[in-house]
This record gives sequence, structure tokens and C-alpha cells, in this order.
Amino acid sequence: MCGIVGVLGKDNVVPSLLGGLKRLEYRGYDSAGIAVQSEGELDRRRAEGKLKNLEAVVRQNPLEALAGIGHTRWATHGVPNETNAHPHMTTKLALVHNGIIENYQELAAELVDRNYTFESETDTEVAAWLITSFLDDGLSPEKAVEAALGKFHGAFSLAVIFKGHDNLMIGARRGAPLAVGWGDGEMFLGSDAMALAPLTQRISYLEEDDWAVLTREGAVFHDQSGAVVSRDIKLTQLTGAMIGKGNHRHFMMKEIVEQPAVIGDTLNSFFNPKTRSISLPDLPFDWNELTKVTIVACGTSYYAGMVAKYWFEKLAHLPVEVDIASEFRYRNMPLPKGGLALFISQSGETADTLAALRYAREQGQFIASIVNVEESSMGRESDMVFHTQAGPEIGVASTKAFTCQLVTLACIAIHAGKKRQTLDHQEEAVLCQALTEVPSRTADILEHDEKIQKLAADLFECRDILYIGRGPGYPIALEGALKLKELSYIHAEGYAAGELKHGPIALLDDAVPVIVVAPSDEFFEKTASNMQEVMARNAKVIFLSDSEGVEKLGGKAMGTITLPKVNPFVAPILYAIPVQILAYHVAVLKGTDVDQPRNLAKSVTVE
Ligand code: G6P
Repeated sequence: MCGIVGVLGKDNVVPSLLGGLKRLEYRGYDSAGIAVQSEGELDRRRAEGKLKNLEAVVRQNPLEALAGIGHTRWATHGVPNETNAHPHMTTKLALVHNGIIENYQELAAELVDRNYTFESETDTEVAAWLITSFLDDGLSPEKAVEAALGKFHGAFSLAVIFKGHDNLMIGARRGAPLAVGWGDGEMFLGSDAMALAPLTQRISYLEEDDWAVLTREGAVFHDQSGAVVSRDIKLTQLTGAMIGKGNHRHFMMKEIVEQPAVIGDTLNSFFNPKTRSISLPDLPFDWNELTKVTIVACGTSYYAGMVAKYWFEKLAHLPVEVDIASEFRYRNMPLPKGGLALFISQSGETADTLAALRYAREQGQFIASIVNVEESSMGRESDMVFHTQAGPEIGVASTKAFTCQLVTLACIAIHAGKKRQTLDHQEEAVLCQALTEVPSRTADILEHDEKIQKLAADLFECRDILYIGRGPGYPIALEGALKLKELSYIHAEGYAAGELKHGPIALLDDAVPVIVVAPSDEFFEKTASNMQEVMARNAKVIFLSDSEGVEKLGGKAMGTITLPKVNPFVAPILYAIPVQILAYHVAVLKGTDVDQPRNLAKSVTVE
């Protein structure tokens, strides 16, 4: 949610700023802007909408400078127009910001009393003027930022350059990520390692409440008390190829086809091929004494948690409560002492999930998280981190991160079953065998691309589409509907197949197709009955099943996708793939922006 980049360079920094913003655009694309410091003066360019608009503005009215900051925005305070776009500039500085300064109205009132005025509706401009007011009082840039940080409430990160200071940039983090990149006679700031990857591989992450003073010679880190602290320099593994589109038209398709490889990588990090069993570090509690697992997440990650509920309950006889983070965090839910709370997040930064994690910690839970981005806030604040190996996911709609989360959860559920002796060695071997086949079965499913594209042609003009499934197929129906609606803006709903008759069946007629997720499992016959009920209302069905299911029922459907016949345990991982591909092709046919759907952002760091 909003991306920040900053460069103190040796040559003109404008191309690096625009390149950094390109790599950060997945975080928000309501507006973009850059500000530079040249010969003691500040200047800026801003544009509403996507980065390409800013690039056009810069082409028309070029800038050249050795220092600058940039921002790509997901609007919170104020509509996404140019006036509200960052960087915000005052008489003395330019500032970009990610997150929310919650007490900005109170701070604005104090500033108005001192005759400062604002031209935008943003909390960011208030932050810029507050620091300026401290400069006006005679403080140095460092002291002015420190004083302002002491007055801000909220979760944010920011970067500032100062008029007349050609070799100075200050960054701060509280609740939203910020990284310092070390170059050779150059220094960088960025919201994540991806922004900085082609510029440098040497990165230091600011810790919570840190602020850093950068010059071309290096960076000095301070903690909240102002004390100078040292922060490790890490080598990022990210390469240009990992964060590019390759030969694909969209990041989303690149990420879909990466799934056989990244699912394999994720599985390999939890699976011991010698013993052919799951090998996880021992958690410092007794699985047999656990009475409940609490799983919390948002969006697609939440649906991964819903699938896991079925797995934990079946394999480990362990009750699971799954909740959406934005609900969980305000429910004041009593949690059993010594319980396990599991947080799932691609980014590891989602504000609601992070707040829920902190609540669970206060309630004495053991905190485990499943995150994809290394060095994330959730990773740092967890007792145990399971890293998915999906690699950078740039398409705003999550695909490969989801299937890697599922693989990870499947491994944890097997581990729990072993520890609780609800799963014997033989059963574990069967489940592990099924998991090891997932990468190649995923590759088989990708072969259906053309067929799914044809089905998409029957769907892209529909107004409403329903997805139904039972058991672990139900969260996949929810995920399918989410993918379709967020990418193509077609109204889509996922429903538990058995619940259809309690309301949504009233929506059905021959204009509302129904996608049926139905692997041959213990729920198949029931789902089949629901499919008959749907067809009796003239709705057209697209049937997702294996050869056995398709033989039984496929003939009745408008379209079928025949998926590999697998152990039902791993079916939700595999059935996620066709619903991703279907949503992708529908969106392409509709001509929507597949990688950056309207109003969305990938990393949601505001509540
Ligand atoms: C946003 C993204 C979704 C993602 C959700 C949760 O809404 O668009 O793709 O599932 O955030 O993000 P997280 O990083 O916590 O998994």
C-alpha cells in the first residue's frame, strides 16, 4: 500500500526513481510522483493515475538531479488527484509517506494556529509541514524529523529530502516497511528489496521505530530513543529476472506458470526425501495439550486458512477457528492460554493481520506465521516463521503465494497429526506421496490453458457467476469467485454447495453460470446433487472434476475441465489452478488491467 523510493546518486537519479516506482507499482497506482534536489532547490512532478502518466509528465517536462524521492500511491486520505499525490513539498523539504498518520487533524490544527496552510487533503502534507515547523524553529533536519516522529500516531514509513542539503535523505519506519540500500558512493531507500534489487543487493531493514540518516557515504540508524544503533547489511537474493515479466504478457500468468517450481521449492523446505516424511522444527509446546488453533488472515490468505481448517480437524483432530483479521482484531476473543495462533500472509505486512498477531501475543498465544516476503513485520514478530518459497509475487491478485501457503499448511497439519498420534507413519507416507506429486500434477493442469481460455469466452459477458464446492472445495469456490471479481469486475460469489438452497439458488437462471468444484472425494455425491439442483433451474454449469467425476456427470455440463485424479487431500491445491487461469482469461477478454485491478493494492498496510 503505497511505495517509497529514494536515491542519493552519482548520476541523474530520475531514471532510478522511475524504475524503482515501476517495481513498487503493485503497492498502489492511484497516483505517482517524484521530487528532486538540484543545486539547492527542490522540484517535483506528479500525476494522477498509473505511473505511465507520471512518465509522460517527466518526458514533457524533464528533471535532472543527483538526489530524489518517489512515491506510488494507494489513496487513503483524499481523492487520487494530482494535488493529493506525493511527494508533498513545503518551503524546506519534500516528503513521501506510506501508511496513516492517525492524529493528523490534531497536528494540522496546531499548525494552522501557527499560520501554516495546506493545499491537499492528506495526512502526509501535515507531516511535511510539522517537520518544516521544527526546521523553522531552528532545529537541524535530523532533530526536526526526530521531534516530528515523537508526535505522530499511526503506522507509517516515510522518506524526506531537504532544500539546500544535496547529500541528505532521512527515512523512518513505524509499522510499515522500509529498507536502506547500500551502493558504491550512492545510497537508496525503498519500501522493499524489490524496489532496490537492480540498484544494489546490499540491504539493511529498518526495525520498528527506527529512523535512518543517509548520505552518499552511508547510513546512520537510530532507534526510537534516538540512540545510534547498528543494523545488519544483508545480501538479497532477488535478481532482475525474478522481478521481471519474462516472456509473459502479465505478471499474473508468469506467476501461475511458476507454480510447479515454487510449490516444489516450498515442499522441499518441509519434506525430508530420505525418510519421505515431513520434517518441521519442534515447536516449544505439546501438540497433545493444544485445545485449539486460531488461524487469522485476509483475502486469499484467509481462504488458505479455511482449507487448513479441514486438514487440521481431519488429520490432527484439532479444532480450528479461522477468522478474517479485520474482524478478529476487534472481537476481544478469549484465547486459551498457551494456544497456537497462526497468521497467514503473502506480504507479512497486512495491517489487520499484524494487529491481530499482536492481540494474540497479548493473549499469551504461541505465534506462528506463514509469510512469503523475507524480513517482514509478521516474520519478525512471530515465535516461529514458515517461509513459503513462492518468490516475488507482483500481480496484485495472489496466485502462487496461495498454493505455496496451502502446501505449507498441509505440511504443518501432517506434522500436527503425527505429534498428536492421530496419523500413523503409513498414513503420513500416503499423504506425503500425494504432496510430492503436486508439482507435476500442477504442470499437467497448466496444459489445460487453451481449453480454459475457450470456456472464458463463454463467460466474459456474464453479469453474475456463482462458484460452489463442499469441504475443502468450498474455500476454493470462494477463492475462484474472488479471483474472478477482482480481476474482471464480474459479480461472482462463492458458496458452500449445500447452502445454495438457503438463498442464492433464487439468483439462478440461464444467464447465471455456476462453476462446480467437485473432486472425487467424500463430498462428491452431495455436490453432484447440488449440481443437479442448479441445472434444474436452467443454470449452465462448468464442472471441475477428475476423470471419474467427469465420467459420471461431465456430459450434463456446459463445460468441463478434467483435472488429474489425486488423493483428495491435495485436491484443493490443484483445483486452485484452473480457477486462477479462468479468472485470468476472462479478465483478458474483458480488457481489464489484470496485474493492477482498479482500487486494489497488493500490500494492504492500512486498516
Ligand atoms: C490484498 C491482495 C490479496 C491478498 C490480501 C492479503 O487484498 O490484493 O491478493 O490476498 O491483500 O494479503 P497478504 O499479504 O496478507 O496475504
